[in-house]
Amino acid sequence: MTLNLFDDAEQGRVWQEAICPGAVVLRHFALRYEVEIFAALDDIARQAPFRHMVTPGGFRMSAAMTSCGEFGWTADRTGYRYITTDPETGLPWPPMPETLGRLAVAAAMSAGYPEFVPDACLINRYAIGAKMSLHQDKDEPDLGAPIVSVSLGLPANFQFGGPRREDKTQRVQLTHGDVVVWGGPARLFFHGVLPIKNGLHPSTGEFRINLTFRKVSK
Ligand code: SIN
Ligand code: FE2
Repeated sequence: MTLNLFDDAEQGRVWQEAICPGAVVLRHFALRYEVEIFAALDDIARQAPFRHMVTPGGFRMSAAMTSCGEFGWTADRTGYRYITTDPETGLPWPPMPETLGRLAVAAAMSAGYPEFVPDACLINRYAIGAKMSLHQDKDEPDLGAPIVSVSLGLPANFQFGGPRREDKTQRVQLTHGDVVVWGGPARLFFHGVLPIKNGLHPSTGEFRINLTFRKVSK
């Protein structure tokens, strides 16, 4: 199913493609926010630099990560969790820039989640070859709130499965400015990112950037 959302003389068409009940791609939705997003990202990365975390199983994650908002997501040898200070700097995570919050709320609204108010944004930076194995986003106590995921830069093959790891996955190609929103019946569905292919993007060079907005407080 596709649904036209709006046309913009400068940014082109924005439309929706359903993935499954509860999950949808908003094509090009973030393009109109692009300049502000990159300015915000520079600012965040200066205060809370990208780092490669090590999973409880001892694997170094190939995507580099940082966070902004009230909570940031971390992994270490003892587990995964959200915390209010950056363990690298000892400082609170940089606040969520107003434009980023507005983008996430507007995307959630378009996708049918009008109540969404994010308090955390995990920022993943993928170099060529980096990936994210199939996983569930289940560290957030309020599973009534969706996940809003903004893709920038190099394209990705996003895998979206079902409630069990072994469920068949759909492959959704995500390009610069696409936003995926999943919640409701799809909130705990497994998802992942296949290794990023070689390329050069005018906005991000040899990287893909992904922002996932979450609601962490109860
Ligand atoms: C994630 O699941 O946290 C990241 C998804 C993505 O990079 O598209
Ligand atoms: Fe995830």
